[in-house]
Amino acid sequence: MWYNTKAAALLGIHYPILQGPFGGNFSTVELVASVSNMGGMGGYGAYTLSPQEIAGLDKQIKAATDKPYNINLWVSDTDAADGTVPEEQFKKAQSLFKPYFDELGIELPEKPPPFTSRFENQVQVILDIRPKLFSFVFGVPPAVILEQCRKKGILTAGAATTLDEALVLEAAGADMIIASGFEAGGHRPSFLAAAELSETGTFALLRMIKEKVKTPVIAAGGIADGNGIAAALALGAGAVQIGTAFLATDESNATTRHRQMLFSDAARHTLLSRAFTGRLGRGITSRIAKDLMHHENSLLPFPLQSQFLAPLRKAAIEQEKWDMILFWSGQIAPALKHTKAASLMQSLISETTAYFEQLKN
Ligand SMILES: Cc1cc2nc3c(=O)[nH]c(=O)nc-3n(C[C@H](O)[C@H](O)[C@H](O)COP(=O)(O)O)c2cc1C
Repeated sequence: MWYNTKAAALLGIHYPILQGPFGGNFSTVELVASVSNMGGMGGYGAYTLSPQEIAGLDKQIKAATDKPYNINLWVSDTDAADGTVPEEQFKKAQSLFKPYFDELGIELPEKPPPFTSRFENQVQVILDIRPKLFSFVFGVPPAVILEQCRKKGILTAGAATTLDEALVLEAAGADMIIASGFEAGGHRPSFLAAAELSETGTFALLRMIKEKVKTPVIAAGGIADGNGIAAALALGAGAVQIGTAFLATDESNATTRHRQMLFSDAARHTLLSRAFTGRLGRGITSRIAKDLMHHENSLLPFPLQSQFLAPLRKAAIEQEKWDMILFWSGQIAPALKHTKAASLMQSLISETTAYFEQLKN
């Protein structure tokens, strides 16, 4: 059967379907559990959480499912040297964004407090709670961490946006590589070259990686139905990771408006922008994102840009100025059909099965 892949066996799951983890408070225990309980692998994006919060979350997941699940962290979670920015750069960001703060009738915020990386402390908790899978983006954890994961029976999967990144992940001993194509929603998790120079689509990336790498590959980006899964498997993927289609379900922590936007005609147009967080990410094309193309030099580094814009986002939501917000979305959104995680999972399984069955006739 199509679902008996090496990656599925390694992960201990029935169907090689991973629900993409969502950082920034879009994941829920309910979503993780419903996907894992139906034979796929749910994933929780934990990069903004404190170590204590991750430990508490893990207890909740374990109470909701006895099946394998994935916890995800960002290896590199700041681009700010010393955690802060020079005054001059902050002034540039203030003047670029002043018209938008004025439009909403709110004050320009003060400089965000210095940011300290959380990864090192977070990863200690991962080693304690031992999820079946620890997936990571934006780099490779130190060798000693990967070694401890191996000793404790935690599988590891790292995201690659280029062949070079896949080779680095394989050399480091990651158990799986997530080929993250240009189509995907959310941030581009590039860590060698700039994200703007790492914009290969899922299929080309998958084939390139399969040519050179022996580690099982999980295809991510632009997959939302059984035909997409069948295509990824045909091209050599051992599993798929699906984000946007699960983000659009009621079980995710996306706001009602965000979910409505994913099902609206607006989702026909997405773009990659640095304007909202300081790192390049894909969302539904919005006025601010278009206005600020080519103004990257006046933005703050990640994550200070998100902190700086938090009051603007809050006011835009309160005033329903939706064109001032980036609603995260992949390019596949116009093909979405399901608002419940269970019906999405069910149809992913039955459509993929039907696809392979008709090949036999
Ligand atoms: C809102 C949002 C947040 C995401 N956050 C993370 C994250 O923190 N870590 C991660 O590895 N991937 C993250 N992703 C990527 C997904 O896990 C998944 O790989 C991607 O969405 C697959 O592409 P698709 O959106 O075309 O299905 C995020 C995606 C979205 C849409």
